[in-house]
Amino acid sequence: MLASMGGTINRRTLLIGGAALSISQSFNRTAFAEPSVKIVEISAAPARLSIGGEPRRPTDVWCYGNSVPGPEIRLRQGQRARIVMRNNLPVNTTVHWHGIRLHNSMDGVPGITQPPIKPGETFAYEFTPPDAGTFWYHPHADSLQQLGRGMAGVLVVEEPSPQPFDRELVWMVGDWRLTPDAQIATGFGSATEAAMSGRIGNTITVNGVVADEVAVRAGERVRFRIVNGALARIIRLRFDGHRPVVVAIDGQPCDPHEPATGRVLLGPGMRVDLLIDMQGHPGRSYQIVDEFYPGLTYSLAKFFYQDEALPRRLPFGNTQSLPQNPLPEPDLETAERHQLRLQGGVMGGAMMGTGRVRGMSHEASWAINGKSMTGDGHAGMPPLLNLRLGRSYRLAIRNETAWWHPIHLHGFSFRVLSRNGSPVPHRQWADTVLLPPKNSTEIAFVAEREGDWMLHCHVIDHQVSGMMAVLRVA
Ligand code: C2O
Ligand code: CU
Repeated sequence: MLASMGGTINRRTLLIGGAALSISQSFNRTAFAEPSVKIVEISAAPARLSIGGEPRRPTDVWCYGNSVPGPEIRLRQGQRARIVMRNNLPVNTTVHWHGIRLHNSMDGVPGITQPPIKPGETFAYEFTPPDAGTFWYHPHADSLQQLGRGMAGVLVVEEPSPQPFDRELVWMVGDWRLTPDAQIATGFGSATEAAMSGRIGNTITVNGVVADEVAVRAGERVRFRIVNGALARIIRLRFDGHRPVVVAIDGQPCDPHEPATGRVLLGPGMRVDLLIDMQGHPGRSYQIVDEFYPGLTYSLAKFFYQDEALPRRLPFGNTQSLPQNPLPEPDLETAERHQLRLQGGVMGGAMMGTGRVRGMSHEASWAINGKSMTGDGHAGMPPLLNLRLGRSYRLAIRNETAWWHPIHLHGFSFRVLSRNGSPVPHRQWADTVLLPPKNSTEIAFVAEREGDWMLHCHVIDHQVSGMMAVLRVA
């Protein structure tokens, strides 16, 4: 592990440092000749794309690879990847590989794990994904604007052997606030919104377009990967006429189970892999309804059954687990315990500071254990907790606020042990845990990689206005 990371850094230094051209050229040839390194090149740039659907005008967005969402990156579990990001935006950026357990220097947090990528510059991200599953990538610099303007993409890490599905559907759910002429509304970082549910949009997209129908065939067994890439919107999906089975959460396989009340609940940043046996009637369509916000339910998309059915290859009702990933099991007996209290927001009792915090670009509305760290990460952030490399930790997270918070930890997957004091049936692994108002949860993980790792709410307005912390592993 360490040896291969050392190799990574040397190679990158060779490429982007002042090494002689001939050296980097000969390195390039070696890299291309070596099939075990998957090389991906992407640029982040402004573009004009049709988001709202006809007859609306195209929207000026910022995105990866000239598309919204960005190109779907498919890597292989255990295969080295080098993803070269060119910044063609007028502003600094970085890329965070959400959910991937990787070396801290590849985590994409400006000022903490790397200098920001300046306009016109490139940065080579290199890592070997240890886990197969559904992940995603997004900026970690001025995230509110950059994610809100369209920068996000799905990252799939494939299992070494094919899994028993007939096909895959991959959905990146996006949420946009568009003006009547289909442009992205300004007003990012409103303090009022930040202290409430964040910037909820008015146009919800699936894979960058306002979705209507997804063609399916009776008899198919589909692996349905869903990413909630919204800034702030939570979704709770109801699949009319279907019984989805959850087979992975945040990329990590779980015991296959039907979700509570049949609904799939995803806060920003969260993913789920569903197994759906398509058993509807040819010629009919079935709605997928988002019913999270009371009184604001809408149909996100429909399954439309084509006329001819697929001959069944796999027996229904026989749902095998996906192969487990090599995650380190926390030792719950000896684990050190800490408590994180989420505080602030409107109706949170004490509003946090109402003025600007000196040197910070956002007002503080939220806090963790009384401390507000604002923005996207910057040099010199003091750690909230100091963790010892290799040790197990149990974090009790208590949401003392009147709002929902999807809490994301960089660099680690954790087990969700309990909610409000009751054990969680599947003790699933996750990297983002959604806390309803006044709820609590306990998570556990092994601090297996050193570095400064972010923990923050993935409602980006909450993150940038104080609900963020650094955990230092040394
Ligand atoms: Cu997707 Cu810092 O997060
Ligand atoms: Cu939050």
